[in-house]
Amino acid sequence: MELTRDRAWQTLTTYTKSEALLRHALAVEAGVGAYARKLGEDEELWHATALLHDFDYEIHPTLDKHPQDGAPILREQGYPEELIEAVLSHAEHLAMPRDTPLKKTLFACDELSGFIHACGLVRPDGIETLEPKSVRKKLKQPSFAAGVHREEVYRGAEELGVDLDEHIAFLIEALRPIAQALGLRTPP
Ligand SMILES: [Fe+2]
Ligand SMILES: [Fe+2]
Repeated sequence: MELTRDRAWQTLTTYTKSEALLRHALAVEAGVGAYARKLGEDEELWHATALLHDFDYEIHPTLDKHPQDGAPILREQGYPEELIEAVLSHAEHLAMPRDTPLKKTLFACDELSGFIHACGLVRPDGIETLEPKSVRKKLKQPSFAAGVHREEVYRGAEELGVDLDEHIAFLIEALRPIAQALGLRTPP
């Protein structure tokens, strides 16, 4: 099979109907894709991996199934092991080594992109003027976007070897072009 971003989108939307989950996939894709471009990596592979990392969450909403039971489905459809392994490695409970740039990047973008999204939802101009300083402040408020694991946000940046502020700024910039698709307010 030819691995493309569009093929991954097709697979994703076959298994995922929830708008929130699709937005999450798009947000993580934007971040991971921006890093692929920056690092000169395989953009189709990185985009596809990010899009598919939670593709089975709707059919496997519990950690005894997600994402491990999704892997055979991807395999059956002919996705490369490199993608499947990266998808599996985003799950903390599987304790797989994150030993490639793709795995590190996916993990570093997963929770944080959701958090930035949440920050943008409570601002009058979405993420247009959002700055790392204010994201950091909100990270320290446990009640805000309580479902986002702070520890994974900090460790993700650490494992990727990037400064957290720079990582946050990079992700905000990556998300701006798709702000509308994420349901965020955009300047007129
Ligand atoms: Fe997941
Ligand atoms: Fe995710």
